[in-house]
Amino acid sequence: MAASLNWEAQAPQFHPDWEAFAARHGLTGWEAWFAPYDEDTYRFVLERLHADDVVLDIGAGDCRFALAAASRVKRVYALEVQPALVSACLQRVGEDLPRNLHVICANALDFPFPEDVTTGVLLMRHCTHFADYFRRLQAVGAQRLFTNARWKMAVEEIDLQASRPLFEHAPPGWYACTCGAVGFKAPAVPDAEVEDAVHEVKTCPQCHPTNPEDTP
Ligand SMILES: C[S@@+](CC[C@H](N)C(=O)[O-])C[C@H]1O[C@@H](n2cnc3c(N)ncnc32)[C@H](O)[C@@H]1O
Repeated sequence: MAASLNWEAQAPQFHPDWEAFAARHGLTGWEAWFAPYDEDTYRFVLERLHADDVVLDIGAGDCRFALAAASRVKRVYALEVQPALVSACLQRVGEDLPRNLHVICANALDFPFPEDVTTGVLLMRHCTHFADYFRRLQAVGAQRLFTNARWKMAVEEIDLQASRPLFEHAPPGWYACTCGAVGFKAPAVPDAEVEDAVHEVKTCPQCHPTNPEDTP
């Protein structure tokens, strides 16, 4: 998983045309900044992949994770919006490109997700489009999503097809929503004990602030 891109010096966000590029692609803040994660982050995901998985790596950067994943699973689609990163990856890999690694230079917001994806990987702490990616992975039938986009710290494994209650039907305690928000639902009785477990919900005060019952 060694990187050849000296990202601190060469990362596209330091290029003079960066602002125009990010604006054209609807990417805000640090969302499209390339900064690779550490080996522990990648290992957490790699150890949980199955040999028959088809992985969609959303925001693949210079494909260091995607390359490692390709040696373990059936197929990897590495989706990255920045040409400089994709080209650094392809130059580095050259004729060693694994047959089961498909490197795609495109905006994930526009690119149709392949129908055979079983597992999404979204290592992008500053992602602002979590809800969109979640919904589209669900729609193609993907089972799992590994991401650090909701809690912003450690990576979690999300069951994409699990049924989820509306926020108001969820027990008090920590919750994580399909919109990407996380938070704490206070118990009706102050200081009452709540479970440690995080509850998955399909609505929350952030995405449905007024009337959660109206959601489809
Ligand atoms: C924090 S970097 C992480 C890169 C890679 N996942 C890793 O762990 O090494 C986030 C990456 O997501 C890419 N990205 C952000 N929004 C994207 C989008 N809409 N479509 C494709 N790539 C995107 C950025 O260009 C950047 O390379």
